[in-house]
Amino acid sequence: MSIQSLIEADRKHLIHPVINYRAHEARGVTVLESADGAFLRDANGNELLDAFSGLWCVNVGYGQQSIVKVAAEQMARLPYATGYFHFGSAPAIELAEKLVALSPASLQHVYFTLGGSDAVDSALRFITHYFNATGRPTKKHIIALERGYHGSSAVGSGLTALPVFHRNFDVPLPNQHHIPSPYAYRNTFPDDAALIAASVAALEAKVAALGAENVAAFFCEPIQGSGGVIVPPAGWLKAMRETCRKLDILFVADEVITGFGRTGPLFACEAENVEPDLMTVAKGLTSGYAPMGAVLMSDAVYQGIADGDPVASVGHGHTYSAHPVSAAIGLEVMRLYHEGGLLANGLANGPRFAQGLDALLAHPLVGDSRHRGLLGALELVADKNTKQGFDASLKLPDRIAAAAYKNRLVFRAFGDNILGFAPALSYTASEFDLLFERLEKTLDDVLAEPEVRAALRVKSGVAA
Ligand SMILES: Cc1ncc(COP(=O)(O)O)c(C=O)c1O
Repeated sequence: MSIQSLIEADRKHLIHPVINYRAHEARGVTVLESADGAFLRDANGNELLDAFSGLWCVNVGYGQQSIVKVAAEQMARLPYATGYFHFGSAPAIELAEKLVALSPASLQHVYFTLGGSDAVDSALRFITHYFNATGRPTKKHIIALERGYHGSSAVGSGLTALPVFHRNFDVPLPNQHHIPSPYAYRNTFPDDAALIAASVAALEAKVAALGAENVAAFFCEPIQGSGGVIVPPAGWLKAMRETCRKLDILFVADEVITGFGRTGPLFACEAENVEPDLMTVAKGLTSGYAPMGAVLMSDAVYQGIADGDPVASVGHGHTYSAHPVSAAIGLEVMRLYHEGGLLANGLANGPRFAQGLDALLAHPLVGDSRHRGLLGALELVADKNTKQGFDASLKLPDRIAAAAYKNRLVFRAFGDNILGFAPALSYTASEFDLLFERLEKTLDDVLAEPEVRAALRVKSGVAA
């Protein structure tokens, strides 16, 4: 098929995730054709530096031939094995054992899903089942963070707190609640301790208002990803976990983005010795080479469900739960993180990534730089003093994405003028140099557009 025919067929038939349908029809798809290491190649032969690891998932980089090999071998040996009827497969069992060994000590059991949304959905179902099975059926309310993202399943989308995931979808549900995000840049807390205390107080107040006997769990991302890479201060995660323990509600860490070396250690929870009751993971679990997610569960929750009924089945399952090809890929990806040195490479490059982002604070468009490990963001503002953003009519994210593409760089330009970055753990020093060279040029190019310059000048009172 020619590129033009592909674009036409896409326009007619393929529904894309999280997009304005009419805008996509008008613009047309950008067809990607191949990838290697940190680079993507589009159907026109343009080579693009990927600073977002696909969708914060290809943590090991593209073209890892050892993954291709194990996947092909597993497909030839056993392409599918159901987990129903007491069947299983070696790769899935081995991966479950490995995840338990590598994750916080509280987590002892693993249910595999196809991605993050159904991991969150599964966690919610398990939590509901657990409280019913253990004789506490009033515990049904769930609390999450404003600006949080927990996928787009029918129920999980209500825990997500981003407006487009709610609009016309009739969520949040009446039992879903949100407390303020730990967003240092857009708050005026005198220090980190005050921010942490405010989050703890907000959770305590919400639980008090609902009654602890009615609250099942608190969900959070250790660093909020899709909400704009909101990096809470060190100690925040631990404080929220301990507050949940005190309030007798379950603490669920959604590590779909932060897991698998993205923030430095294998899991963000590890950095603060946080032991969640449940953890959801996906993305870096298979580095995007095949779909897979998981819910990791504490022994207490597992035993509560297991003891719930002596004969009835726990009616939760997916045809592709614990898929052997995805699991074989997951095992090889874990080997690349550890024995393959990628976790160490990501850790070693954290300071270079941080320095590159922080240096751009000097740019007229950049109001904030925030990061942990290889997860980071720049927030663009029209006025650095007042932190005032740009008017939506300027369509700054579209301008940024277009300029970045011209400069052969891919990252995420969020709707509210936050730029998200998640380079692969395999990035070399020269790839970081290229990333920041192209990023600075992109910001300069956008600033050179008269409408952008005018918006900056008017709001900041700076003469052109
Ligand atoms: C924290 C978090 N949870 C859940 C999800 C949903 O995962 P998926 O897109 O694989 O369904 C995402 C996706 O970005 C995520 O960032």
